[in-house]
Amino acid sequence: KLKKEQINILVVGLNNSGKSTIVNHFKNPEERNNTIVPTVGFTVERFQNQGVFFTAFDMSGAGRYRSLWEHHFKSCHGIVFVIDSSDRMRLVVVKDELEILLQHPDIAFRKIPILFFANKMDCEDALSCVKIAAALGLEKIDEKPWHISSSNALTGQGLEDGVQWLIEQVR
Ligand code: GTP
Repeated sequence: KLKKEQINILVVGLNNSGKSTIVNHFKNPEERNNTIVPTVGFTVERFQNQGVFFTAFDMSGAGRYRSLWEHHFKSCHGIVFVIDSSDRMRLVVVKDELEILLQHPDIAFRKIPILFFANKMDCEDALSCVKIAAALGLEKIDEKPWHISSSNALTGQGLEDGVQWLIEQVR
């Protein structure tokens, strides 16, 4: 199998889940923001690291902005889905957004690997990967490779291993 020259990774998740902190980890130091400002309205963040192109956006307020980011689906090879594991209240919203994503025609019929980060594992009330997987019904995803890892985006714990798994699935 030929190696892909360019790998497009989409990073999605609700606001405040930790997307910006995660993608910052993969940026070269000179591209890194020292302070991360919460996304207002809609922004798409895009950069590359060693041939891997990361595109990140916020899914909340998705109804309003969905048409702006859906066109990224066609060219994406892998998805990083970020979940705030301490935000139990919004797990149902996460589940809805995941279902909408999985049903999208540019995603549904392709074997795109999905990496779930159960982020903020350092928070006292963080749910385990197993509990999040059960709450989101991940066992029902049978046509795509998927994996869930706990992460702490503040320290970087879990990030490299998770993304390594994703890139191996794509290559
Ligand atoms: P939007 O820009 O609103 O879409 O949010 P985002 O998903 O990009 O989240 P962001 O990276 O801005 O992180 C939101 C807040 O959570 C920030 O205050 C981060 O410092 C914090 N945060 C991110 N990851 C972690 C983590 O693993 N643990 C803890 N304790 N806090 C985290």
